[in-house]
Amino acid sequence: MTTATALTTAARVADAVKVYGVGDTAVRALDGVSVAFPAGRFTAIMGPSGSGKSTLMHCAAGLDTLTSGAAWIGDTELGALDDRRLTLLRRDRVGFVFQSFNLVPTLTVEENIRLPLDLAGAAGEAEWIDALVDTVGLRDRLHHRPSQLSGGQQQRVAVARAFAGRPDVVFADEPTGNLDSRTGGEVLGLLAGTVRRTGRTVVMVTHDPVAAAHADEVVFLADGRLVDRMESPTADLVLDRMKAFEVPS
Ligand SMILES: Nc1ncnc2c1ncn2[C@@H]1O[C@H](COP(=O)(O)OP(=O)(O)O)[C@@H](O)[C@H]1O
Ligand SMILES: [Mg+2]
Repeated sequence: MTTATALTTAARVADAVKVYGVGDTAVRALDGVSVAFPAGRFTAIMGPSGSGKSTLMHCAAGLDTLTSGAAWIGDTELGALDDRRLTLLRRDRVGFVFQSFNLVPTLTVEENIRLPLDLAGAAGEAEWIDALVDTVGLRDRLHHRPSQLSGGQQQRVAVARAFAGRPDVVFADEPTGNLDSRTGGEVLGLLAGTVRRTGRTVVMVTHDPVAAAHADEVVFLADGRLVDRMESPTADLVLDRMKAFEVPS
């Protein structure tokens, strides 16, 4: 250890292989990926469509299982957990933001944000939830239903919900995929700002260089392999790097 600021790891995979299907139709979506996501940072997983980004996220988050290799949340190896423990881990230690907001339509904004805590039977910390509501700017919408909100507002509810239980890591899969660029930029700023202010951890899948530029670091996937990493990304640098992956037509 050469510095006192060595980062701990919020999530990681080692030699991760994921094969969908069998025989002639088998797809090797992950082809031996090893990557660690440091705690307290915002990491983007970037790559062309079909490069294995969502598969990597799902396997790292315990939503899907690896064909071989291993995945950890903190020090917990996911492959060692039975279904019940895996469900509890997902509920208590991981937060999710998806492209399609996935709010419960019959619940209010406040109830949606508190849902992970209520499912866990946890009281939650009022101050933390209160701060989250202010962070996402929804104080005056707490008693609205999702259908009464814009897309950007709905995704802000999903962001607050993802952080409500103070998870070890929040995984986001194309969180701005259904938003216009201005609204998407607000949601990305929220994710980045929450990481910087609270020291939480975010791992975000995106194919958009502008979105990736909000992260502290970008890891690049191509054909199911980790091919590069970039610290302090800018949209231009990410775009340049992505051009190298494009198949010449
Ligand atoms: N459930 C599945 N069954 C079969 N093939 C899949 C499944 N999910 C993903 N794939 C394939 O695995 C590869 C990686 O997919 P994915 O992880 O979704 O990529 P990305 O998120 O980078 O677009 C693609 O070839 C995709 O078609
Ligand atoms: Mg995907």
